[in-house]
Amino acid sequence: MSNHIFINEKIKSFNKKIKVGSDKSISIRSILLASQAAGTSKISNLLESEDVLNTLKVIKKLGINYKKKRNIYYIEGFGLNSFNIEKNTTINAGNSGTLARLILGLLVKSKFVIKLTGDKSLSKRDFSRVIKPLKLFGVNIKSKNNSLPIEIVGTKFLRPITYDENIGSAQVKSCIILSALNTPGTTIINSKFSRNHTELMLKSLNYPIKVQKKGKVNKIFINGLKQFKSFEYNVPGDISSASFFIVLTLLSKKSRIIIEGVNVNKSRIGIIQILNKMGAKIKLKNKKLYKGEDVADIYVRSITKLNSVNCPSKLNSSAIDEFLIIFLVAAKAYGVSKFKDLGEMNKKESKRLDLAVKFLRLIGIKVERFRNDINIHGNPKLILSKNLEIMNFLKDHRIFFLSCIAALTLGGKWKINDKKSANTSFPQFLKILKFLGANIN
Ligand code: S3P
Repeated sequence: MSNHIFINEKIKSFNKKIKVGSDKSISIRSILLASQAAGTSKISNLLESEDVLNTLKVIKKLGINYKKKRNIYYIEGFGLNSFNIEKNTTINAGNSGTLARLILGLLVKSKFVIKLTGDKSLSKRDFSRVIKPLKLFGVNIKSKNNSLPIEIVGTKFLRPITYDENIGSAQVKSCIILSALNTPGTTIINSKFSRNHTELMLKSLNYPIKVQKKGKVNKIFINGLKQFKSFEYNVPGDISSASFFIVLTLLSKKSRIIIEGVNVNKSRIGIIQILNKMGAKIKLKNKKLYKGEDVADIYVRSITKLNSVNCPSKLNSSAIDEFLIIFLVAAKAYGVSKFKDLGEMNKKESKRLDLAVKFLRLIGIKVERFRNDINIHGNPKLILSKNLEIMNFLKDHRIFFLSCIAALTLGGKWKINDKKSANTSFPQFLKILKFLGANIN
């Protein structure tokens, strides 16, 4: 089967209700915490994407059994630090930064050396951000230039740490929280704002974790060595996957969409706040609270006049995976949109800030770049008729999704490579586009 698609026409107007794939961050965390719980946890609506399936493979390699029956995964944990680790074990996190960084936190007591590897994209990413705190816990880690492959061996003499997490990375914060579970005493993280699914999930398990808001910082206290029981979890939809359909609807003519049952945790809805500042009128309805997580239906309709935005950088962390698609809206808005301090975008599956600038210029948009800040000169009349090819050398799923939405809303004749990258986070993506009427070959 070929690994590229062609899109040669814009999508026609639609009015539909959809569900997107389940949340990737929550799916990965639910598996990792189930692997540490005492008893069999039941997880329904787990996202079956490559990053999540790799998480299941990794815990299996570490001695945790699971099975799937109907829509439920049963994961059999034996409590904290109960991995059954053999000598010379290698685990492969594939494309997933979240899996790679979080699993290291669960290996801090491993008796044997474990080698952690990943694919080409993950092997280019920086691990110093987790190596530094792990070493402070007393863990032994070897790597070349702070990147994969990494060899980790735990210690019996773990000591709790107090750590200033000032990148605003949920992966770093969660790696420290998971290390703290196996460490005696109280670990303290002074954490810059980032997604808080790990904290909420542990709280819902009555784990002794406390979060105090202190100005711009969250002070997190984690007491180590407290066992917790198995649990049930029903994973909600992923706002990062929903974001592509939100923008598709906004930029299409006379269309409406309802996206049901999406996680709208405050730390994730930067895209809705930013697009609403631009005049998008996106609404959240049927709000529910599930184990500390906000879940809602997202209502969107086409908007003919969108305005530029001066994006406050305090929203960066809650929209970090969505900027690529937000930039497409800025490209079609009236005026110059300004985004600042987006260096973290270049630390993702590919150098997304660099690629975004290239992409916007390719579609004929004027972009000014000053290090990690960009100004996008919107052109509401932008329509394409030329041939375009998107290479996606590092197989970045979100570059693939962005290209499809651009093709379906701007016109032009597109060849978009690496269709398979969709499997990283959202295998049903193309099927849903076709359900909405997209013509994709
Ligand atoms: C994630 C956190 C974010 C995000 C990534 C998933 C998570 O990364 O970009 O896609 O599940 O914790 P950082 O925490 O490094 O910003």
